Amino acid sequence: MNQKTTSKWFNLLTGLSGKVLALTIIFVMLGEVLIFLPSIANFRIQWLKTHVAQAEIAALAAEAAPGQIVDDDLRSTILKGAGVEAVSLSRGDKRKLVLRNNTDTMVDETFDLRSGNYFPTVMEAFSVMFLSHDRLIGVIDKPPAMSGDYIEIALHEWPMRDAMLAYGLRILVLSIVLSLIVAALIFAALNRVLVKPMQRLSTNMMQFGDMPEDRKRVIAPTRRSDEIGIAERELESMQRQLQGMLQQKGHLAALGLAVSKVSHDLRNMLTSAQLISDRLGEVKDPTVQRFAPKLISSLDRAINFLNQTITYGRAQELPPRRERVCLHDAVEEVFDTAKLLGGDDIQLINEAHHSLHVDADREQLIRILTNLTRNAIQAIETRKGPNSAVRISGDREGALALIYVADTGPGIPPAVRNKMFEAFQTAARAGGTGLGLAISAELLEAHGGKISVSSSDEQGTVFEISIPDRVDTEKGRVLPFSKVAKN
Ligand SMILES: Nc1ncnc2c1ncn2[C@@H]1O[C@H](COP(=O)(O)OP(=O)(O)OP(=O)(O)O)[C@@H](O)[C@H]1O
Ligand SMILES: [Mg+2]
Repeated sequence: MNQKTTSKWFNLLTGLSGKVLALTIIFVMLGEVLIFLPSIANFRIQWLKTHVAQAEIAALAAEAAPGQIVDDDLRSTILKGAGVEAVSLSRGDKRKLVLRNNTDTMVDETFDLRSGNYFPTVMEAFSVMFLSHDRLIGVIDKPPAMSGDYIEIALHEWPMRDAMLAYGLRILVLSIVLSLIVAALIFAALNRVLVKPMQRLSTNMMQFGDMPEDRKRVIAPTRRSDEIGIAERELESMQRQLQGMLQQKGHLAALGLAVSKVSHDLRNMLTSAQLISDRLGEVKDPTVQRFAPKLISSLDRAINFLNQTITYGRAQELPPRRERVCLHDAVEEVFDTAKLLGGDDIQLINEAHHSLHVDADREQLIRILTNLTRNAIQAIETRKGPNSAVRISGDREGALALIYVADTGPGIPPAVRNKMFEAFQTAARAGGTGLGLAISAELLEAHGGKISVSSSDEQGTVFEISIPDRVDTEKGRVLPFSKVAKN
């Protein structure tokens, strides 16, 4: 036997088919037993009633004899023909023993067929089949030919037991044949309606699981309207969704690779620029002397950042390296580069107090503020007025540092407002990628902080940033530097 046939038989035993087959046989058998018990009880009752009827005819024949006297030979012939040992008829309150064999007619048990009670007859019939010795029993019933009020007969139980066993055997054979036919039909029907479709579903799931990208492996749902049809259609939609997600993941992976490649080459170009700018420091011109260090530190920052991206090969930020950062100084640094962007007609006002310190990663804080300042300048540029300005101020509420970036721009377009902190969701501005705010929000989240729009209308927009000081996790209290920072 090869492996395929073995697993087929194994499936039949342990799989759904085997279970359906076993259950079908059990329930059909149970059905047969439920039919068998009342039918054997009914057979016994009919057998006894036939003997009652025969005994009545025998009794009437005996009464019709001249002088109602029947000789011994005739009496035993009549009783034997009727299959009973004694017959008595009752009319009114008179009871008359019409026929009786010469033997002892003391009965072991009497059954009254007039009651018509169903349950005891089933029990009685069942116990008769297991009798170990013959008994003489009495039976009381209404005489079928109405020759009296009731008739009593005495007869041996053994012949009845033999007839019942023969009948039971016939029924048993018939039951087995019928059970097999019915079980086969039910099994075939269930197999077709339930088992096969379930097998199709599970096989499809396994095959799809092996290669979920393969479009040909998506299940083709049938037009069934029942639960299996629903399962097929739901599975199809889940498989398609999964394929969509896998495809998106594939695109993102390709994008990640592209970013790594771009970062790599860009870093090399910037490194060359850095070497050249180092030489700028040697030029004596005061303007060059003023800008050269800023240019160098910007390039440093860019190269560092690209290095991180390449090393990690993913768009996830490094955990912040937090330190005590003077907000005023950080804002100065942001404005120094932003000045070149905004020109002279946009004022950049640093209102952060020298004493205000923030517990943050310096580089990341500068990136956040740069993003917000660039956005503010870009917004103002769409509607420049005489008093256009970007203003950054700060405050402290206990262990929470608050930073406000306010501009005099036209306000955030309503279409953008709901999803401006999600990546790639806003491309309202030409040349914008819609990443600046998403990156800022992510960086702040890593600090346990938040960014939100505290107001935005035609007069301008104010973004609010909050950064909590670190908590000393061992002692569960705020690090001491915030107390220093407060004054
Ligand atoms: N201060 C602001 N005033 C008005 N609109 C703003 C302001 N800041 C942001 N927005 C709106 O939110 C959008 C999203 O800004 P975000 O910085 O995330 O992306 P971007 O500036 O379009 O692109 P980039 O990735 O280059 O920063 C902007 O396109 C702009 O429409
Ligand atoms: Mg931006």
